[in-house]
Amino acid sequence: MAPFADIEDIAKLIPSLPLETRCPPFPLRQYGGFWLPEWVLPGINAVHTRFDPRQSDVFLASFPKSGTTWLKALAFATIHRVHHPPSSGESHPLRRSSPHDCVKFFESAFAFSSGDVFAAFPSPRILATHIPYSLLPETITANASGCRIVYICRDPKDTFVSMWLFTNKNRKVNGALTTEQSSLTIEEVFDLFCDGRCVVGPMWRHVIEYWEQSQRRPEKVLFLCYEKMLCDPSRHVKKLADFLGCPFSVEEEKGGVVDAIVDLCSFDKLKSLQANKNGVTDLAAKKESFFRKGVAGDWGNHISAEMAARLDGIVEDALEGSGFTF
Ligand code: A3P
Repeated sequence: MAPFADIEDIAKLIPSLPLETRCPPFPLRQYGGFWLPEWVLPGINAVHTRFDPRQSDVFLASFPKSGTTWLKALAFATIHRVHHPPSSGESHPLRRSSPHDCVKFFESAFAFSSGDVFAAFPSPRILATHIPYSLLPETITANASGCRIVYICRDPKDTFVSMWLFTNKNRKVNGALTTEQSSLTIEEVFDLFCDGRCVVGPMWRHVIEYWEQSQRRPEKVLFLCYEKMLCDPSRHVKKLADFLGCPFSVEEEKGGVVDAIVDLCSFDKLKSLQANKNGVTDLAAKKESFFRKGVAGDWGNHISAEMAARLDGIVEDALEGSGFTF
């Protein structure tokens, strides 16, 4: 496999890659062991050739539907708390804009533009990505780069259900991108998911790559779990701030800044805002579709116990020996 930076003509390479057209909502191509949306490949290639990382860059990485929106909001509110105090009311950017407008996915921004779209952004830049760790450019992952990565993972069963419902909700919006067989049943899409055939799948491989890096380079890669964050969001916001090199002072903690960030970014608060009710993201997904239930264990209402046991078994086998369990 040629590293992305060495690919001279991505448009020529794409048709030669294995194709999967059954997984909604995009046609997928297999590259480097992952199923990637066809349209994103030029974006990943551009990230390798045109993106100029800075020491202070922060990347929020995730498998889709693992809590990315929440992490975007928490990281944005934490890093920018001096200029934008979380208790500043209506004027806070997260009360006026979607977390997806405050923090952009860099591979999709590169896929749809020329040049380096983020060159003019002030530091510290916060960028999001669904790119698997092994497909990120070395300019980001090398120790010397200074870049920090925060990864969020989630129970695969809830992730699958969230992805299924999100895709259905957005089917009409991005009809132009919908795969020819998007009328598959949940059981059929589940079979494909179990086979690793979904956007940036297999999910377990995506997770394990970041997990391993978080063990190898804990000062550069922070690994978070959605369910643990739901149980104790304040502790995780403090952990995030420490990792990002902007720990909360005693005065801030006493003054309730951590709690204010947790509250500002809570599911109920974000879901209730007009900014998250109307409109679509850069990728034509309805903004409101990023806020569904925001709980752990909803899979029980959508997939059978047999399906759950099957996925658990696949994930368990894949993670064996890694030291990581969901
Ligand atoms: P559900 O569909 O299970 O409700 P992503 O942001 O990676 O697309 O993930 C979306 C999932 O995160 C959805 O899960 C969504 O409801 C949940 N979510 C969004 N904002 C959240 C928040 N502030 N707190 C907790 N969960 C949130």
